[in-house]
Amino acid sequence: MTRKNNFYQAIYQEKARNNELVYKKPDSLIHFLEHDIYKSPFLDMSSKLKILEIGCGAGSVFNQQSNDKYQITAIDISEAAIFHAKKTSAGHINFKVMDITDFQREPGEYDLLFDSHCLHCLTDQTSRVNFFKNASQLLKPGGMLTLEAMVNHSRMTFDDRFTYQDNILIENNKDIRFIPHSRELEEEVLRNGFEICYLRVFETLKIIPDSQRSEALASDPDVMRVMAKRK
Ligand SMILES: C[S@@+](CC[C@H](N)C(=O)[O-])C[C@H]1O[C@@H](n2cnc3c(N)ncnc32)[C@H](O)[C@@H]1O
Repeated sequence: MTRKNNFYQAIYQEKARNNELVYKKPDSLIHFLEHDIYKSPFLDMSSKLKILEIGCGAGSVFNQQSNDKYQITAIDISEAAIFHAKKTSAGHINFKVMDITDFQREPGEYDLLFDSHCLHCLTDQTSRVNFFKNASQLLKPGGMLTLEAMVNHSRMTFDDRFTYQDNILIENNKDIRFIPHSRELEEEVLRNGFEICYLRVFETLKIIPDSQRSEALASDPDVMRVMAKRK
């Protein structure tokens, strides 16, 4: 096991040991899927969509989605997360342990890549460039990459145990999140060979960056949603 996947594996293993490894439906991602993605004019919903969920964690956002409309594969870097996801999820989802930053040999022929809050966990530039390279390789030409990620704002603050510098959020000496300005994330998507079809920044919707807290605060990062087409 590489050092990279040790980090998430350790988190999920500890949760499993403490019987805390439950799949919590990420409401904001479900909202993104149902209100923005499925209703967008950029996807042909009349044929069965081949979808890849990236960084699914201990379950899939697509659990309740019908088998007839979508063919779903969900990946995560952590074996412990995928083990739990397989045990507790609907049988029609194909779960796989996979690092999205690893070189992809085969084209994936996916219609839609759904980043399940994974990109903002990639804190070094090489991993982020590889994420976009692999996204291109995994999509059909014209296929859609969808992202929901944290973006910064001027009122953003963190608890004392965190440090935030050069867009990176650090906890216990470990880089845990990459939180750029929305303009920087937009430029990154464009620079990596995608055409943006939809972009929205929510100043009231929050992704909580602190695993010890369940209530969102105004000082938490804002949310940016992007739908981008592979050129
Ligand atoms: C913030 S969690 C989100 C989990 C779940 N999608 C949710 O929204 O609750 C990010 C997930 O991405 C996974 N992850 C991190 N780096 C990854 C990588 N390089 N490849 C695949 N999955 C990765 C982590 O193991 C973790 O489950």
